[in-house]
Amino acid sequence: MSSAASSTIKIIAPARGFRGSLTLPGDKSISHRYAMLAGFAEGTSRIANFSTGQDPHSSLGCMEAMGATTTLNGRITAVTGTAGVLRTPSQPLDCGNSGSTMRMLAGLIAAQQGDFTLIGDESLTVRPMERIRKPLTSMGARIDLTEGHAPMIVHGAALQAIDFDTPIPSAQVKTAVLFAGLQASGTTSLSESVRTRDHSEHALRAFGAKLTREGDRLRIAGGQKLHAIDAAVPGDMSSAAFFLCAALLFEDSNLVLDALGMNPTRSALLDVVHALGGVVKVLDVGEQHGEMVGTIQVNRSPHGLKGIDISGALSAQLIDELPVLAAIGPYTKDGIRIRDAKELRIKESDRIALVVKNLRAMGAEVVEHDDGMDIPGGQTLRGGVVDSGLDHRIAMAFSIAALRAEGETEIHGAEAAAVSFPEFFDYLDELAIR
Ligand code: S3P
Repeated sequence: MSSAASSTIKIIAPARGFRGSLTLPGDKSISHRYAMLAGFAEGTSRIANFSTGQDPHSSLGCMEAMGATTTLNGRITAVTGTAGVLRTPSQPLDCGNSGSTMRMLAGLIAAQQGDFTLIGDESLTVRPMERIRKPLTSMGARIDLTEGHAPMIVHGAALQAIDFDTPIPSAQVKTAVLFAGLQASGTTSLSESVRTRDHSEHALRAFGAKLTREGDRLRIAGGQKLHAIDAAVPGDMSSAAFFLCAALLFEDSNLVLDALGMNPTRSALLDVVHALGGVVKVLDVGEQHGEMVGTIQVNRSPHGLKGIDISGALSAQLIDELPVLAAIGPYTKDGIRIRDAKELRIKESDRIALVVKNLRAMGAEVVEHDDGMDIPGGQTLRGGVVDSGLDHRIAMAFSIAALRAEGETEIHGAEAAAVSFPEFFDYLDELAIR
C-alpha cells in the first residue's frame, strides 16, 4: 500500500514504565488455517478466540464466498464447511492485504472445479506469487498471473502428487503444496531448507488428515476428507512481540501474557528476549490440537539491554518480529545486526527500507544492507514523524520505539495495525505508564 493513502495519525507520548497482564487475540497464522480448513471440512467447527485482525477475516470471507457459512456467537466463530467441494464464487475473491490468504487459498482451490480469481489491495498486488504457481503448476494446476503478481486466476484441474523441496523458507508456500496435496492423486512429499512455522501440519491433523514426517520430509496422501473440530486459537506471539519488546525498555517492567501460542517454530523471540536481557518465566504450558499454549511473565534484568546478531535460520524464524526488534535496537548497549532477511523487502512493505527511514526520522544512525541492517546501540531517539507505509508491523514497531523517545512521535497510517491487531493502541495505553 502506498503511504500517500495514509489517514489516521496516532500520537505516542513517551512512557515511564510498562506493566500489566493480557490475554491476546488469537494467532493470525493459526486463524487463517482454521478458517480455510473449517470451511473445507464437513460439519460445523466452533473456533474460540479467532483472530480479530482483518487478514484472517479475509480468509473467512473468501471461504464464505465459496460456500462456507460463518456465524459469530460471543467469542466463538462457528464455521460450517463445504465438505470438500468449493463453489465457484460470483465475484473475485478479495484477499485484501493478506499474502497468507492468497497463497494458501491457491493451494486449496487448485484442485477444485471452476475458475477462481483472487485479488488484493495495492500492497498485495506487488508481492511475489510465482513461488506458489511453480509447485502448483507442477502438480497440474493452471494459474494465470500478471508478471508474477495478482490478480491470480486459478483454473481448477485434477492434480497429481509431487516431491517438492522448498527453495525459500516460506510456510505459505509449504501450506499451498500441502493443501493441494490433500486433494491430489498419490502422496505428495515436501522438505524445507529451513523449518518454518508448522501450524498447517498441526491443523491438518486436527481436522483429521493423516500427515507424516520422517526426518525433514513431510508426506500427505491425496483424497483425504476433513471433519469439523472445536478449537481455541492461542494468543498471537507476533502481536505479543510488540509488548515483549516494550517490556525490555523499562527497568521495572512486568508483563504477563496468558493463553499465548508458544509453538516452538514461533517462539524463537523468547530466546532473543532472554539474550537481550529479559527475564522470561514460563508459568504454565499445555497443548491444544498440537499447538503449545502457555502463560509467560517477562521482566527486564537489572543489567539493562545487551545487543544481538540475527542471521541465518534465525532470521527466517523471526521474520515477522524483526521490525520491532530493529526499532528497539538503538536503546540496546551493543546494537542489533540483522542479515539473511531479504524476505523483509517483499512483505506488506519493503520493511528494511521503511525501518531504516523511520529510525532515521527519529534521529537514529543505521546502516542499510540488501538483506538486513546494522543498528548501533547506545543511541537516544527523539520523537518524529513515522510513516507506516500502511504496513501493520511498521506502525506497531515504531509505536514501541516511541515509548522511550524524547518527545512525542506521530505514527502516520496507524490504522494499518488493524490488519493483524486492531486492539493494539488500546492495549498500549493500558500497559504504558505515563
Ligand atoms: C505466515 C508465514 C510467513 C509470515 C506471515 C505469515 C504464515 O510468511 O511472514 O506473516 O501464516 O504461514 P512466509 O511464509 O511467506 O515467509
